[in-house]
Amino acid sequence: MNVAIISDIHGNLEAFEAVLSDIAEREADHVICLGDCVGYGADSEAVLLRLWEENIPAVRGNHEDAVFDDSVLEWFNPQACDAILKTRAMLSPESRERISRWPLFIPFDAAWCVHGFPPASVHTYLFEATPRMVIESFTTIPSRLCFVGHTHILSLVACDGERVKSYPFKKGTTFLDGRRYIVNVGSVGQPRDGDLSAKYVIWDTEANSLEVRYVPYNAALAAEKIIKAGLPEFLARRLL
Ligand SMILES: [Fe+2]
Repeated sequence: MNVAIISDIHGNLEAFEAVLSDIAEREADHVICLGDCVGYGADSEAVLLRLWEENIPAVRGNHEDAVFDDSVLEWFNPQACDAILKTRAMLSPESRERISRWPLFIPFDAAWCVHGFPPASVHTYLFEATPRMVIESFTTIPSRLCFVGHTHILSLVACDGERVKSYPFKKGTTFLDGRRYIVNVGSVGQPRDGDLSAKYVIWDTEANSLEVRYVPYNAALAAEKIIKAGLPEFLARRLL
């Protein structure tokens, strides 16, 4: 079974459509989304509608939280707050209500899917996690693999129960061994790793392998729409 894991689309419809086409070409059996579908980009509502049209299950990200919970705004810098308030205005009441019901995690086959860090954090970044935190997190979940997003940077962290080791994680296929792994699948709509293409991961459950996909898309159009929508200009520049 091939499972496409996508995360952090951030209202970037052009990147999302390109990734959906790539997933269709790869004939993935399932698609799971790790949250932060909204915010930053100009098309948060359209991204949500497309996600639901494709019946893709999603966990809640910190940007979904920020849509309906004022208390989490303090986590964001002033420019991000400005973008969040504009994003709220762009979403329909039905969509706001629907994302408020997204779960904090989804167990799927041998994997645990969560936005930030297992078992259920939408705010903790993988790069903040100490080896002790990684070891303890695997005592709280039954899964061999844990997929996360949130940092917008691909990463692969292995744990044998006593030791934790990080590995480079870039374009191509990685075969896993019997250890447990936390896998950051990068970002579809706002990569922050120096490469401008949309990123996602295909997990082959039989081969026990992960394929990182880099997908080019029309970033110039996505950036232009951000400016036209009156969102902060740096959000457009960050895509180019
Ligand atoms: Fe994000």
